[in-house]
Formats: sequence, C-alpha cells, structure tokens
Amino acid sequence: NWSMDDFIDLQIRKIRETVGDRKVLLGLSGGVDSSVVGVLLHKAIGKQLTSIFVDHGLLRKGEVEQVMDSLKGKFGLNIIQVDAHERFMKKLVGVADPEKKRKIIGNEFIQVFNDEASKLHGIDFLAQGTLYTDVIESGTDTAQKIKSHHNVGGLPKDIKFKLIEPLRTLFKDEVRELGERLGMPSALVWRQPFPGPGLGIRVIGEITEEKLQIVRDSDYILREEIAKHGLEREIWQYFTVLPGIRSVGVMGDGRTYDYTVGIRAVTSIDGMTADFAKIPWDVLQEISVRIVDEVAHVNRVVYDITSKPPATIEWE
Ligand code: XMP
Repeated sequence: NWSMDDFIDLQIRKIRETVGDRKVLLGLSGGVDSSVVGVLLHKAIGKQLTSIFVDHGLLRKGEVEQVMDSLKGKFGLNIIQVDAHERFMKKLVGVADPEKKRKIIGNEFIQVFNDEASKLHGIDFLAQGTLYTDVIESGTDTAQKIKSHHNVGGLPKDIKFKLIEPLRTLFKDEVRELGERLGMPSALVWRQPFPGPGLGIRVIGEITEEKLQIVRDSDYILREEIAKHGLEREIWQYFTVLPGIRSVGVMGDGRTYDYTVGIRAVTSIDGMTADFAKIPWDVLQEISVRIVDEVAHVNRVVYDITSKPPATIEWE
C-alpha cells in the first residue's frame, strides 16, 4: 500500500527534522500503539531513542515478559524496565472514583518518566502512542469529555518534555497496517487494545491486590479460551472486569458469598463505536465454568450485552 509507505517516509523525515541529534524517551505500555511508535522511532533515530516500560502492577498476566521479549529481543530497542508497582499502589489506596484513578495513574506515569529521564540526562522529547480516537474522546471542553484517556488527559500542565505523537492522526486499524508495513510480527500488531491505566480501570472502585489477582486470572482464562476457539481476530477486544459486588452461590452443600466477574467482548473498527460480540453460548459456558472453578473467590460470571453507545467499552 503506497500511501502507508508515504506516511512512514513522511513521519521518519519529520521525526528526524524535529529531533535532530537530541534524545527521545518513549513510554511503552505493552499495547500496539506505543510499540508501533517505538519501532517507527527506532527506524528514524536509532540509538537516540530510549524506551521505558513501566510495570505499574496493573498489567495482564505474562505481559511484562511478552513485551520485553518481542521489542527488546526482536527489534533491538533499548528498553529500561521499571518496577513501579508499589508507587502506584500507594497512590491508589482508598481511591474509588474512575476519573480520579485515571488521573492518578496518568500523573504517576509522568512522574516515573521524569525520574527515569533525569537519571538519563539530556532527554528533550517524550514520545507517545496517542491516536486520533484518544484526542477526540478526551475532548477539549469539559462538557464533551467522556473519559480522561491516559495518553492525553493525564498529562500535567508543567510537563517538561516536548511531545512527539506520530500516530495522532490515525485510527487503530491504520496503526495496525502501519505496524505490518514496519515488519512487526502479527502477534504484536494484532494484540487487542489495552488501556494505559490497565487493570486499574477493570477493577471497579477501589483497587486491591486481591481484586487485581481475580481480574488477572479470569482475563487469562478468557484469553486462552478465545484463542483456543480461534475467535481472536473477529473479536476486537475481550477482557474481564470485577464490579466488586458479591452474591450468594452454592457449592456442594454449602453457601458461598463471593465475587461476580463480568466478561466484556466487543466487535469494533476503531473503538469509537462497538457491538457486544456474539460469542457462541457453548464457548461462553466453558469460559464461565473455568473461571468459577479456577479463580478463587468467584462464584458468578455475567456477560455484558451492551453496545457503545450507550455504554463505553471499558467500564470506567
Ligand atoms: P472506551 O472505554 O472509552 O474505550 O469505550 C475505547 C477504547 O480505548 C481504550 N481506552 C484507552 N486507551 N488509554 C488508552 O490508551 C486510556 O486511558 C484508555 N481508556 C480506554 C479502550 O480499551 C478501548 O479500546
């Protein structure tokens, strides 16, 4: 596709022009967007790029290893891995409001970047995987604002880096096309979208380690089953959420009073609108049985059958 090749050439030229011989810092989130930015920037400026992968403790099972392996290993990116788990958890104690959680996580990200950047010396730019969708949905006036997307809304006003956001005019499907044109493996390019605030917005209300574990384990089972049934490509995004309610169940002769896990799975083109995915009943049943069997403190599984609008894809 010639127009995507043109886009790549143009971006590489623009990035070189903007950056000159200075240094860029990239925050890798584990998602498609920042990974594509990483590969694009690496192509444009090579060693002038340093990437930081912040493990905020809100990532999915196996995600840290997977990201490090595919980008550091295969593309030779210079990646600093930061374990900021405790910093984030400390800030999030007692916080239940979705927008507050988003702001805290976004701000803490920037703090971690600042800390790492000051260790590195001479960083002038911060690169981000902001998409057109993020720009629209974060809105410029409050009346229109739906959610503070991590990439846009979370930025403090006194940020000391200049921003580089090469994907700012693209939709998700275009980013994937770009990734493929850049020679990235399809496992990486077709990875489902994952929000910056991670599992932090999939544990509804206050975040605790116990609740994160439930989301992580149930999400892993869901991903395994979706892969096993070959549904990965047709479902745009699929994950579990923990609404935090508990309900009564029965196991053997005994009463249980445990958590409910929600499954969210949608089809979409760009994330702006979405339909709930019509996953076959028997697949849903298998997933439900496994989650209740294998994840401690869960006795009920529900399926989210709302589209966007009126619901959003994430629950927070
Ligand atoms: P919503 O929940 O607004 O999500 O329907 C639309 C798409 O955006 C993802 N999402 C985010 N991505 N930072 C991101 O990079 C964020 O803060 C964020 N919040 C939501 C969401 O997973 C879905 O794909």
